[in-house]
Amino acid sequence: MKRPSRRAIVIAAVSAGTVAVLVAGAIVGLTVKADTEARAAYDEAISSLKAAHSSLDTAQRDHVTAQQNAAWRVQSGTDLAAIADPTLMPDTAALDALQAKTAELTTLAQLVEADDALVAPEPPKQQAHPSPTMPADRAALLAQTADLKSETAELKAEAAALTAQTADITKAASEVDAAAAAVAASAHAFGIAAVPPARASAESVAAFTAAVAALEAPAAGADLTALVLAYRDSWYATVASDAGARASSGAGSETYIRGVLIVNKTYALPSTFGSGLTTETSNAFAAMQADAAELGLNIYIASGFRSFASQTSIYNRYMANEGQAGADRHSARPGHSEHQSGLAFDLNSITEAFGSTAEGIWVRDNAHLYGFIVRYPPGKESITGYVWEPWHLRHVGTDVAAKLFSSGQTLEEYLGVTSVYS
Ligand code: DAL
Ligand code: ZN
Repeated sequence: MKRPSRRAIVIAAVSAGTVAVLVAGAIVGLTVKADTEARAAYDEAISSLKAAHSSLDTAQRDHVTAQQNAAWRVQSGTDLAAIADPTLMPDTAALDALQAKTAELTTLAQLVEADDALVAPEPPKQQAHPSPTMPADRAALLAQTADLKSETAELKAEAAALTAQTADITKAASEVDAAAAAVAASAHAFGIAAVPPARASAESVAAFTAAVAALEAPAAGADLTALVLAYRDSWYATVASDAGARASSGAGSETYIRGVLIVNKTYALPSTFGSGLTTETSNAFAAMQADAAELGLNIYIASGFRSFASQTSIYNRYMANEGQAGADRHSARPGHSEHQSGLAFDLNSITEAFGSTAEGIWVRDNAHLYGFIVRYPPGKESITGYVWEPWHLRHVGTDVAAKLFSSGQTLEEYLGVTSVYS
């Protein structure tokens, strides 16, 4: 066999050396590339983590703000619903909506509070991020990159949950705002329609008018509760002012509130008022009597219009038997009886037993259809000033009668007035 020449050996050695160098170079090149990629992935993971921290911070801040906002809305919505007197805000739909939305927001806030125990939206705190140069070898770098990615995913999920809750809270809070605005609008509309009592002082009427005007266009974020409270209180001030004027000067004239003649212990009639049942009252009674008759029920007027003199003799008779305190519970002092108005009468028998007869029950359930109210319902003596009188009807017109029938209010509650002797 021919021995390789020296030259061939040298060439072979050089070639092998070159290949070895090339292979080694390639290995080193691949290693450097893999390290660079691992480093880039790590850098990217760090920057995603920082972004996730920042969006969690934002979500936490938004969430805390929304919660504070919601707490304020719940408080003001609850206050508004509680102070919303149906005598001054007849729009029960607006009130119902406010109550419903406030309850919804309260529930949501409670749920979020419960969730917060899990999510723990503490005040944002700056976390120490690992330095990108820290891991020495690629395996450690890759392992830390994986950790960073999973931490980033958790933070993102947390931020997304907070953002979703925040959206729910904000939506419910804005609905409470809308419902509260509807209550304020209702109060405003009713205030516009309300005619302050005739003898209320000019100051009290001016304050009421100003309070109504303030409700007309509340500024964004205005304290609606305060506006409605001021409106309600200013109305009561006109009523009190009127009652005071009457008490100090006697009943010079009758009192209409919101178009309704009010006669009770606070409000008297002039002694010369009226001369019989009004035509409207007589006609409404005739229609009611005819409808009752068709059902086989017999209703008739046992006591209708009374003059000042006849009320005086009735009241004095009771007073002689029972004393003033006893008489005052069921008989009006002269000048204070609705019988003097021509708008009221007593049916059939003047006994509580009438309330349990077929006639008494039918009248209780149907009189409003003819514009009458059972003026002194059971359990309302502290408001009307009189014990239950199932026989005493008062004509107020079908609109007011329907409202009182469905709300269960007395005339005093509806008008926002008292019934007390001064
Ligand atoms: N019984 C009623 C209160 C009146 O006397 O007018
Ligand atoms: Zn009566």
